[in-house]
Amino acid sequence: MSNNRPWPQAGRTRMIARSPLGNIGTGDEWDEDAMLARMDDNHVFMMGDNPALPRMPDKPSLLDFFKYRFNKIAVNHLLGACQRAIDDGQNDTVAMACLLHDISNGCLIRPDHGYWSAQIVAPYVNEEVTWAVKYHQPLRYIADPAVGYEYPPSYRKFFGADYQPPEYIMRDAEFAKNHQWYMTARLVTLYDHYFFADTAKQYNPDDFTDFVGRNFRQPPEGLGFDDSPASHMWRTMIWPNNFL
Ligand SMILES: [Fe+2]
Ligand SMILES: [Fe+2]
Repeated sequence: MSNNRPWPQAGRTRMIARSPLGNIGTGDEWDEDAMLARMDDNHVFMMGDNPALPRMPDKPSLLDFFKYRFNKIAVNHLLGACQRAIDDGQNDTVAMACLLHDISNGCLIRPDHGYWSAQIVAPYVNEEVTWAVKYHQPLRYIADPAVGYEYPPSYRKFFGADYQPPEYIMRDAEFAKNHQWYMTARLVTLYDHYFFADTAKQYNPDDFTDFVGRNFRQPPEGLGFDDSPASHMWRTMIWPNNFL
């Protein structure tokens, strides 16, 4: 892959079938039957680079995904949380967990985002970072007055004041509270400010190059092409519109 390589499926109309997850229950479902009926020599389902998206480098790095794939709110939210942790003198484990805590929301998946985010990064960071990324999600729902953490006012707005988290969230939060790495995940929740607090300042992924270089095991083949247990997740973010 290089930036002057030809677009795939040249000369054809490339139809995009949205992933079931972005489709189901929305009332705006794509009509699979109609699209299948349009298939002919000129109409195919998209595979490979989508010209509507920036082209990824041959060997994508973590920060390439921040630059070329993640939505703006996610980029600023993650970089902002990381920067606040660094500015407070937190160690690299805490700051790295902040950088990655919502990474699945960048362009992959929102439900159970802490659990997904932990799996996406697990092969490339230390175990404590992965753990904190996973458990920040349940711990967000649980106040800890001893460290000044309250149930987020933003969650009252997002979900309604009477929202009750499901049993698995309460179970996993309870487990996390009694774990040796509790404070690492708890600190993530403390630096995890609401997205609208991050809009005042724009953060630049390039400013985090050295920090990421120290704390993320970048595979030489590029993320997506290294045959780790998470490679397919990175490839899905490179080619989010692939039919299969
Ligand atoms: Fe989160
Ligand atoms: Fe967050």
